[in-house]
Amino acid sequence: MAKRALLLYSGGLDTSVMLKMLQEKLGMDVLTLTLDIGQEENDLKAISGKAWDLGATDVITEDVKKKFAAEYISREIKSDGLYGGIYPLSTSIARPLMSLEAVRFAEEYDCDLIVHGCTGKGNDQVRFEVSIKALNDDIEVIAPVRDWGLNRDQEVEFALANNIPVKQGGKYSTDENLWGRSVEGSDLENPAFPVPDDAYSWVVPPHLVREVKAEVQIGFSQGLPVTLNNEDLDIRHIVSRLNSISGQRGIGGIDYLEDRVTGIKSREFYECPAAVVLLAAHKALERITLNKEEMDIKKAMDAKWGDLVYNGLWFDPVMTHINAFEESVNEPITGEVRLILDKGLCSVAGIESQNSLYNFETSTYGKQDTFDQSMAKGFISIFGNQTVNTARVRNKKLERILSSKNQT
Ligand code: ARG
Repeated sequence: MAKRALLLYSGGLDTSVMLKMLQEKLGMDVLTLTLDIGQEENDLKAISGKAWDLGATDVITEDVKKKFAAEYISREIKSDGLYGGIYPLSTSIARPLMSLEAVRFAEEYDCDLIVHGCTGKGNDQVRFEVSIKALNDDIEVIAPVRDWGLNRDQEVEFALANNIPVKQGGKYSTDENLWGRSVEGSDLENPAFPVPDDAYSWVVPPHLVREVKAEVQIGFSQGLPVTLNNEDLDIRHIVSRLNSISGQRGIGGIDYLEDRVTGIKSREFYECPAAVVLLAAHKALERITLNKEEMDIKKAMDAKWGDLVYNGLWFDPVMTHINAFEESVNEPITGEVRLILDKGLCSVAGIESQNSLYNFETSTYGKQDTFDQSMAKGFISIFGNQTVNTARVRNKKLERILSSKNQT
C-alpha cells in the first residue's frame, strides 16, 4: 500500500476533496504539485495557500511556460500538429510535460503514488497514466473520481463537512494553457446548436469583432518562429502576443466533434488564436521551401504525430523517430510570412525565403521564361504511356462487345 502521494493539484473542488480524503481515509502524506503552463484563470498563490490549509505536507508550484514553449509547442509547430486535421492539441500537448514533472518531483520527494483528477471518460487519464508509467513503472497512479466513483454531490457534502471552500462551478468545463483553451459541457453538448457566445473567452465571437484588421509578419528559422513584426522574441512571447492580436480579431475558435481515445464522440470548442496563425504561417513557408516528395511524406508523418500526441503516446519510442524526421525536414523552413488577420479570418498575404524553391524563370508566362516547352511533348508520351496503352487495349475490347451486341 502506497504511503506518500503526489497530487496534481488545480485548486478546484475535485482535487481539493482528494487532498483531504487521501489524508483522512487512507492516512497518507500528500504533497501537491501545481504547474503554471500559462493558464490565465489560475492564481498560483491562492492555490498553494489552499493546499497548505488543507494539510499538504509539501506544496510545489513550478513555472514551466518556458519549457512548454521550447520543448512542446515548438515540436508541434515543426510537425504541423493537429488531431483530425483540425484540433491544435492544446490540452493534449501539455499532459506529457505535466507527467514528466510529476514523476520528477515524485522521485525527488520519495512518493510512490501519483494522483490525478481525471474522469474515466476522457483522454487525459490515458495521457497521464501511459506517460507516467513509461517514465517510471514503479510509481502507482490513481484517479479517485474514476477509481472511487466520486460524484459531485458526494464531493460537495464531504467539502462542507471538512471546511473545503465550494465555489459555484462555471457553466462549462474548461482547460487552459499558453497554447489554447478547451471548453466542453453544458450547451455545447447538443451538436444541433452553434457555439454560444458565452463559451468564448480568448476569442471575440467573429460577429462581434470591432478591432480593425491587423497585418503581422512572422520570421521563421529552421521551422520555428523567431521574430514577430521584425522583433526578436522567444516562442513563448510570440505565442502570447499572437493570442491577443488574433483573438481580438475573432481568429482561433474551433468547433470540433471529436473522437476520443475511449471511443466516445464529444463536442469540444477550442480557442487557439496563436496556434491557428502560427500553423498557417509555418505551412505556407513549408510550401515554398520543401519539394513535393518532402511535403508528401511530411503530411503522413505529421498526421501520425498528431494522433500519437492525442492518444497520449508522447513517450513511445516511435515519437523519437518521427521527431528526428521533423527536425531534418524543417531545416530549410526559414523565411518571413505576412498574414492579414481580420474578422475571424487569417490569410497569408506574402511569403519570402532565402531557401525558396519557387523559380520565377520557369513559372512565368512573361518574356523572362526559360522553360523549354519543346521537351513537354516527349515527356507526356512517356509519362502517359501506361494509361494510354491500357485505354487503347480496353477500348478495342469494348468496341468489339458493342458491335457484337448490335448484330444480335
Ligand atoms: N478534448 C480535449 C483533449 O482531449 C480537451 C480535454 C479537456 N477539456 C476540458 N474542457 N476540460 O485534448
